[in-house]
Order: sequence, then C-alpha cells, then structure tokens
Amino acid sequence: MAKKTVRDLEVSGRRVLMRVDFNVPLEDGRVADDSRIRAALPTIEHLLERGAKVILVSHLGRPGGKRVDALRLDPVGAHLAHLLGRPVRKLDELTGPMVEEAVNLMRPGDAILLENCRFDPRETACDARLAGELARLADVYVNDAFGTAHRAHATTVGVARLLPAVAGFLMERELATLGALLSDPARPFVVVLGGAKVTDKIGVIERFLDLADAILIGGAMCFTFLKAQGVEVGASRVEGQEGLDTALGLLEKAGRSACELVLPGDVMVADAFAAGAATLVVEVGGIPEGWMGARYRSADGGRVCSADPSGRGGFLERAHGRFRVRDLRQGHRGRGSGHGRVSGSYRGGRRRFRGRAPALRADRADGSRLYRWWRLPGVHRGGGASRGGRPGRQVTGWGGGAGPYTGGSLFTGYG
Ligand code: 3PG
Repeated sequence: MAKKTVRDLEVSGRRVLMRVDFNVPLEDGRVADDSRIRAALPTIEHLLERGAKVILVSHLGRPGGKRVDALRLDPVGAHLAHLLGRPVRKLDELTGPMVEEAVNLMRPGDAILLENCRFDPRETACDARLAGELARLADVYVNDAFGTAHRAHATTVGVARLLPAVAGFLMERELATLGALLSDPARPFVVVLGGAKVTDKIGVIERFLDLADAILIGGAMCFTFLKAQGVEVGASRVEGQEGLDTALGLLEKAGRSACELVLPGDVMVADAFAAGAATLVVEVGGIPEGWMGARYRSADGGRVCSADPSGRGGFLERAHGRFRVRDLRQGHRGRGSGHGRVSGSYRGGRRRFRGRAPALRADRADGSRLYRWWRLPGVHRGGGASRGGRPGRQVTGWGGGAGPYTGGSLFTGYG
C-alpha cells in the first residue's frame, strides 16, 4: 500500500500543516511520557531542516468541544521546543485571525503549535468549515498521527480532502509494519488488543478474527466482554448496551472461527478511581462489589490486566499511564532496568507466574512506566523485536488506538 510521504514533497518556504498525536499524559503540568512527541520528531525535523514553515495540530484528551485549561497544549509545546532545541510558538487558538497573523509572520524553519483541536466542537464532527479554515493556513498537509488515524475528524480527514496530503515517517513506518503483518503473518499469529471501547475496536477485532490464531483482549474493554458473558465485574468500566451487544457478537463470531479470543483470567482491581487506591488481584469472577478494574486517574490513567490464556502462562499486557510498580500492594513486584528489559514476578489468585521476560518498554530505572510481558510458552517477542531469540509466535499489540506494538514499531498507548 504505497503512500506518498514527506519525502515526495518540496517543502522549502512552504506552509505545512502537520497533524500529530500529542495526546500525552501530563503530571503536575508537565509532560509525563513524551514517547509520542519523540515519535513525531523525525518528520518535524525533516520538514524544518528543509525550510518548511511547520504548523502542528494535535488533540489532547477529550475536552468535549470546550476549552479545558488542564488540556491546553502549552506544556507539550514547551517540551517539544526542548526536544527540538529550537523555539516552538504555542498559540492559544486553533484557527482565526490571530492564528492567520502568526502564520503570516512565519519564516522558513519556524514551528507553531496550534491549540488543542478538540476545544472546537467542529473537530470531532469533521466539520467542513473548520477543515477549510485549517486548510487556508497551509499549502500542504502531513499526517503523522497514527494513533488518531482511526478518527474521521476535521484535522485528520476533513483537511486532507482540501490540501495535497502525504504521510509522515511515523505513519509510513506503522503502515508498513501493519501491512506486512496483515499480508504475510508468521504463524502462529497472536494479537494483543487494549483500549476502552469494544465499539472502537470492532473493525480491528473482526479483521484479526479472520487472520490471527489468537487475540488476547486487555484494556478496559475486557470488562465489557466479561460482562457480556455474564461475569460480575463490580464497578469496572463497561460500555453500554451497544458495547455489550458488540462484544457478544464478536464472541460468537470467534466461536465459529479458528481464532481463539482470550480474556483475562485475573485482574487487578482498585477500590477507587484514584492514585494510591487500595488494590487487589483477583480472578475475573471474583471482583468485589464496588471495586473496579484498576485504572488510575481519569484522563489518561493506566490500567492493568493479567491473563492466563488456556493455562499456557500469563501475560500482563501493559502497565501504562500513571501506573507505578510501587503502587501495587499485593502480590506484584517488578523492577525496570531502564534498558529495555524488566524482570518481575507475579502471583495472583491461585495462579502463579514467575520469570524473566523481554520488556515492551521500561523507560525508567525506578520502575515507573513499565510495559511488561510474561512469555507464553512457545511465544517469543513479537514482530520486529524478536531479534536473536527462538522462533515463536508473532505477537502484536494494538494499544488504546495508539498504534500497533510490532517490535521495533510504536507502542505508545496508555488510553
Ligand atoms: C489515543 O490516545 O488513543 C489517541 O490519541 C486517540 O485518542 P481518542 O481515543 O481520544 O480519539
């Protein structure tokens, strides 16, 4: 699936509107995990070095079409400027006279970051007038927001209809990796999916039911699947009737397909939706009333799922967002080396796993922001990450709509 990319563009002196996914977690007004910002740097630098005037646009969180001070992009702009080592002018508007004036003053090699596009209710409605206002700011459009590519919004779809549009390097890499997985997957092929809503993932799940050997469901959406099966999930987040019906339909389809749909065997639950809440690890059928599948803080908190697929071992899909190992009170321990490996042990319910596993991510030596994986027997690091190991199952994850984890590829999901 060849796509035009920034390599095909002559950008010197031209205004480039670039959609990025800077939907990053913030903590005390600062960027707490800059993976998504770093992932967009190659494209931004490519454009700036070639004398483009780069106008960046992103969403942050789900402000619902209103201005929410905590979701302004100022901390993101400051962090980006630090990473780029050059100024980034953050504007307080998305479109309008003030923005037009700022763009008119831009010189080749300048970068501007517009305000959170979801402050404008027209963004998620894919409003043609908003798309027009954005398109007027630029000569060409670059989409490098892979994590948002499944949304038909004004900054993703609307503006691409109005300007010459190409992919950034991140988008190109993700499409190439995913394309290879879809056209010629190594067998057996196991897919790990996370995210909050089954209804957001239905297309992906249906596609993989036809292709994969197993799909491991994590993220908050596992509770909708469990509830659809009649399992009591306490106060865990469950989608409404539409989500339950969708989950049931997918379970039935999985029953007829050769693909195994694997739900968690154990979950970590918390007694409150807050950092520092008491936590417990229980089997899925034993979630106490009023407790919920662990998730910390509202906007972008992490959640944890562990599973014991068919007794073959366990996996902790990911610990992300603001999840900290030191928050765990019961039976979990982990240690991040900060060098891309992590060792840890897990004991939960009657199941017990112990072992050393390749880390999906281990950003910090203090063990925060870990992405851990317990190896399934015969399963070995997936996709491009499987260097130097035994051949095994190909594993890919799709986290929170944030892009597939395909080894060398991106896994920036925390939503
Ligand atoms: C994500 O974090 O999954 C992407 O940025 C998309 O965000 P959304 O689910 O709020 O559209």
